[in-house]
Amino acid sequence: MTVDYAQLAKAIAALTEGETDEVALMATVTCEVHHSDDRFNWTGFYRVTEPDLLKIGPYQGGHGCLVIPFSRGVCGAAARTQEVQLVADVDAFPGHIACASSTRSELVLPVFDAQGEVIAVFDIDSDLPDAFTQADADGLASILRDVFAR
Ligand code: SME
Repeated sequence: MTVDYAQLAKAIAALTEGETDEVALMATVTCEVHHSDDRFNWTGFYRVTEPDLLKIGPYQGGHGCLVIPFSRGVCGAAARTQEVQLVADVDAFPGHIACASSTRSELVLPVFDAQGEVIAVFDIDSDLPDAFTQADADGLASILRDVFAR
């Protein structure tokens, strides 16, 4: 099963219409995205809860570590640089945090609010090497904009 981003965006828009609570939104996005594609083995948010610190938010998959400083890992890099991190091989990424040893590649996107502040990162991990494409990054960035920056 491979995700259809247009359809996924529509489903998420319908499910989240009128909702403003961040946890409710993150939980719904996580669930819908996670189950949309067999490549996605861990899907979830890390929230910016204090300066330079990410804390686990809603997720699906195995245990995720609770706290990630901006200085560490792929998630930290996305929060720090405010840029999408598309990592084809996690073993080649310095400082990658291995919450699951099965993870081979990942895609992490910064999540912006309507004021342009980074409020979280959205992390998808795959047990397949080189699982993600620019189309995934674009499709997910558009959904995150629709949900969190509206
Ligand atoms: N992939 C992350 C760590 C979080 S877990 O894999 C759920 C990273 O290196 O930033």
